[in-house]
Amino acid sequence: MGIKRPEKMLTRRAAARGKIILFGEHAAVYGFPALGLQLEEELMVTLKEGGREASIQRIRCSRAPGAEKRLRKLLQELAAPQHSVFRRAAELSVRSELPPGLGFGSSAALCAALAKLYLGEGAGTAEIWKEAHRLEKLFHGTPSGIDTGLSLIPGTTLFLPRPPALPEFRRLPDFPAGLLVGAVPRSAGTADLVARIAAEREKNGSAVNRLLSELGEVSGKAAEMVEQSKRPHQDKMPDYSAGLGACADRSQEILAELGLSTAELDFCLRTAREAGARGAKLSGAGGGGAFFAIMKSREELEDAYSRMKRSCKRKGIPLLYLKQYPAAGGD
Ligand code: MEV
Repeated sequence: MGIKRPEKMLTRRAAARGKIILFGEHAAVYGFPALGLQLEEELMVTLKEGGREASIQRIRCSRAPGAEKRLRKLLQELAAPQHSVFRRAAELSVRSELPPGLGFGSSAALCAALAKLYLGEGAGTAEIWKEAHRLEKLFHGTPSGIDTGLSLIPGTTLFLPRPPALPEFRRLPDFPAGLLVGAVPRSAGTADLVARIAAEREKNGSAVNRLLSELGEVSGKAAEMVEQSKRPHQDKMPDYSAGLGACADRSQEILAELGLSTAELDFCLRTAREAGARGAKLSGAGGGGAFFAIMKSREELEDAYSRMKRSCKRKGIPLLYLKQYPAAGGD
């Protein structure tokens, strides 16, 4: 009788990154342009193979303990075992640097990382994106594809959505201004907020369409400025922060008119403007969550960072995320 060798345990990993939507959120769902930026923070899924069972025994999620149930459901709906990597899976764990549920794209990154995991190393971005988009539909019915796109495409990207298909996209130069990115608690999830806009559109079609179309126009204008910033300049690079700031302020007015802002978000955006921001807006689906402010120089960015911390503390607003993204151009 031969000695039974222990089975080889294989570990597979795949990762995708978070995002901020700069311009055109919600409008993208209806085919209008949107602009976004990939964040450095990443989400990683690790799959450990083990026994012979065709189901995952254990799911662990750091940062979002309640998410295990949702993930298990997602895998069931996917009929996970049909993908060979899940056939002998013992444990799936998700480790994320992204704060979940605030508009930084953690669900999209999860979909993209899972798709990468089971499609394997040979898969290209287009194939992974398509699959991630299919998974994201299980989170919220009608994603535009910009969130999953940003989880896979680095840098600043302009999207030209074509729902229900995936958007076309164009990679742009680095965003030519400093960004102060923050987040406050959120009162509703993306699925609910997207559904709310859809219901509003049913009731009040032309008014809502006009607002969504203007959000798309602002995205186009902002994209032009970002593109211009890389054309050759005589000497010093022009200042784009005022123009981009105006785009942010106008977008915020529209998003607030659509009922997507909150008192806490308004407070943070006002604080940023008082600290010198050229413009500021919510980012993502809204109802609280992520926001950003456009700053001209690194000094102003640092100053606004400290003021935001102090003011929110004084007002009792929990700042769940606050980070500076340095200006790519000079001041
Ligand atoms: C959420 O990050 C962006 C939305 O436009 C939804 C989507 O595009 O799928 C609200």
